[in-house]
Amino acid sequence: MTGRFEDRTALVVGASRGIGFAAARSIAEEGGAVAITGRDEHSLSEAARNISAASGATVTPIPGHARRAEQRRSTVERAVESLGRLDVLVYAAASNISKNTSVLELDPELLHKDFDLNVVAALEYTKLAYERGMADGGGSVVLLSSLAAHTNVRLPAYSMTKSALESLCRGMADQLAPDVRVNSVAPAFVETSFSGTIQDLPKERINASYPMGHEGTPEEVAAAITFLASDEARWITGTTVFVDGGKSAQPARHDTPHPRIGDPIH
Ligand SMILES: NC(=O)c1ccc[n+]([C@@H]2O[C@H](COP(=O)([O-])OP(=O)(O)OC[C@H]3O[C@@H](n4cnc5c(N)ncnc54)[C@H](OP(=O)(O)O)[C@@H]3O)[C@@H](O)[C@H]2O)c1
Repeated sequence: MTGRFEDRTALVVGASRGIGFAAARSIAEEGGAVAITGRDEHSLSEAARNISAASGATVTPIPGHARRAEQRRSTVERAVESLGRLDVLVYAAASNISKNTSVLELDPELLHKDFDLNVVAALEYTKLAYERGMADGGGSVVLLSSLAAHTNVRLPAYSMTKSALESLCRGMADQLAPDVRVNSVAPAFVETSFSGTIQDLPKERINASYPMGHEGTPEEVAAAITFLASDEARWITGTTVFVDGGKSAQPARHDTPHPRIGDPIH
């Protein structure tokens, strides 16, 4: 434990499992006071207990739906009430409702739902944290983007939302500086229930496709999130850190046929 978050507070949105959970645990293990949110009350309370047991920190679970404006507002208010103030916001909630629907079949209603959670709610949470004094002591926001923002992974709606999120990241970094830094991380596949819904190929094939030999773990992504959230990154804002096992460094290939629509590529 290096204590990078001693006397610091954090709200992690989407922390009952996966990457958000690992980030909340890592911040708590380094001395931070943490509030976590997600929709399902039971799994959120369980996550808070697990993080407390691992870190010795008090962790406040605040159930809430990130697509609902009223619940976002009450979540931030309750977090500030319980933590005293807010220094760090990690936004890890996302949906991929449109799945790998081909572009010609994309339903605008579903696209809007993904956009609402993956982009608009990230903006709204940041605004609320800012309004509730995050800027006062120097704040840090970390958004969960994806390699899908940069490369075609045949999840068109999801990719659009993550590209938009990175654009939002730069816009907020510009306009909230120097009070609040805003950065994002872009993981490739990370072993969570979220990626499980996208993968058709056997795990060994997916692992073998990475220069580093395996898909990521939530802890490997949490390490980048906690760095960006901490004072060690005090001169870094508006950027995206790839945490992708080398995937984005791979050569563009000409030795495999172009996949047809519907072919399993993950
Ligand atoms: N896993 C990957 O391969 C991967 C790769 C690149 C980027 N990412 C990004 O990393 C982030 C975290 O992904 P993950 O794999 O850790 O996902 P996950 O394991 O499915 O966890 C998602 C978390 O968000 C919460 N959540 C979902 N919908 C919500 C809503 N409407 N309101 C509030 N909370 C909500 C979930 O709890 P409830 O269901 O109880 O609400 C859960 O705690 C996402 O932004 C994702 O796009 C993931």
